[in-house]
Amino acid sequence: MNILGIETSCDETAAAVVKDGREVLSNAVYTQIPLHQPYGGVVPEIASRAHVEKISEVVRTAMDGFGVDAVAVTYGPGLSPALTVGLNAAKGLAQALDVPLFAINHIEAHLHTPFLYDAGETPHNPPPDEAVPALGLAISGGHTNWFDIAGPGRYETIGQTLDDAAGEAFDKAAKLLGLGYPGGPKVDRVAKEYCAAHGFGNLVPFPKGRPREGVSALAGLSAELCVSFSGLKTALLRYVQQHPEATGDDLPRVVASYQEAIVQSVADRSRRALKRRAYKAFILGGGVSLNSRLRVVLGDVAKSAGVPLLMAKPKYCGDNGAMIAGLAYTRRNVQGDAAMGMDVAPSLEAGA
Ligand code: KG4
Ligand code: ZN
Repeated sequence: MNILGIETSCDETAAAVVKDGREVLSNAVYTQIPLHQPYGGVVPEIASRAHVEKISEVVRTAMDGFGVDAVAVTYGPGLSPALTVGLNAAKGLAQALDVPLFAINHIEAHLHTPFLYDAGETPHNPPPDEAVPALGLAISGGHTNWFDIAGPGRYETIGQTLDDAAGEAFDKAAKLLGLGYPGGPKVDRVAKEYCAAHGFGNLVPFPKGRPREGVSALAGLSAELCVSFSGLKTALLRYVQQHPEATGDDLPRVVASYQEAIVQSVADRSRRALKRRAYKAFILGGGVSLNSRLRVVLGDVAKSAGVPLLMAKPKYCGDNGAMIAGLAYTRRNVQGDAAMGMDVAPSLEAGA
C-alpha cells in the first residue's frame, strides 16, 4: 500500500510516498530556513505563505511516477496557519484521487522515523510491532517528551520538559552567542570540534536541567523523569555577562559545555526511564536526535540498559512527509469522513 504523506506543521514543506509503512519511495522536502534566518526564528505568517507557494510543487515531486492508495497529513501539533495549508491540500487531493485520508500526530510520527528505510535497502531496525514495549523520546524544537509505548499506537507521557524544548534551548543559546539560526546544528559542529581537540575535562559546570520537585508535581509527572532548561539558559546568560571572553576566544568551550549540560540531563532522565520496566527498545526521534553527541551518549545509555537504541537515518530526523505516511500505515486511526471534517490541532499531544 502506497501512502502519500504531507507535512507542513512548521518550517518545512514536505511530501513523500511510503510503501507499507516503511519503504520510502520518494521524499521531497523544501526547507524554509533561509526565509526565517533574518528573524532568528520561525515567523508563522512567512511559514504559511511559503507553504502555500511550495505545496503543489513538493507534492508533485513526491508523487512523480508513483500511484497512491491513501493520503496522510499532519493535523497537529504545530503552527495553526502552517498546518492548515497541508490539511487543506491533503483533503483536496484525497477527494480528487478518491482515496482515504489519514490525519496524523506529528510527535508520534517522529517516533516512527527509525523504522523507515530507503527503497531497495535492507531495513536497519526491526518492524514497529517487534520493538514494543518501548521507551520513546521525541526531542525537537517543539518537544522533549519521554513516552512509554506499550504497543503500536499506545503512547503514555512519562516525562517531559517543564519549559523549553531541547531544540529551543539549543536555538536560544546560539542566538545569545551570535551563532545564528537554527542553533542546534551550529552548536553541534562547534562543540564537536572543541571536544575532539580538548576532550570533556575542562567544561564549564552548567546546571544539568533538574526541575524543582514542586514544579514537576504540577505536571503530574515524576521529577526524576522531567527536565527544565530555563535555569541552564539563565546560567549561560549570567556566565556570558561575567566572562566577556565567552563570546570571543572561549566561545567553543562555552558552547561545548552548554551542549554537554543538555545531553547529560537528557541521558540521565533516559537512564531512569529505562529502569521502569523491561523495554525491548529505546526509540529516538525529532530534529535534536541529529545531535552527534546525543546519539553517542544515548547509545551508551541504551547499551548499559541492554536495549537497542533505534534511531532514524539523519535525513529522516528533521520534519518530513515520510514519517507521516509511515505512521499512517501502522495506525490508520482517523480516516474517512472523520478526517475530511478534521480541523488542525495546534496543541495536540501524543497519545491523544
Ligand atoms: O523536528 P524538527 O525538524 O522540528 C520540530 O518539530 O521542532 O526539529 C528542529 C530542531 C531545531 O530546534 C534545531 O535547532 C534542532 O532540531 N536541531 C539540532 C540539530 N539539528 C537540528 N539540535 C541539536 N543538534 C543538532 N545537530
Ligand atoms: Zn518535528
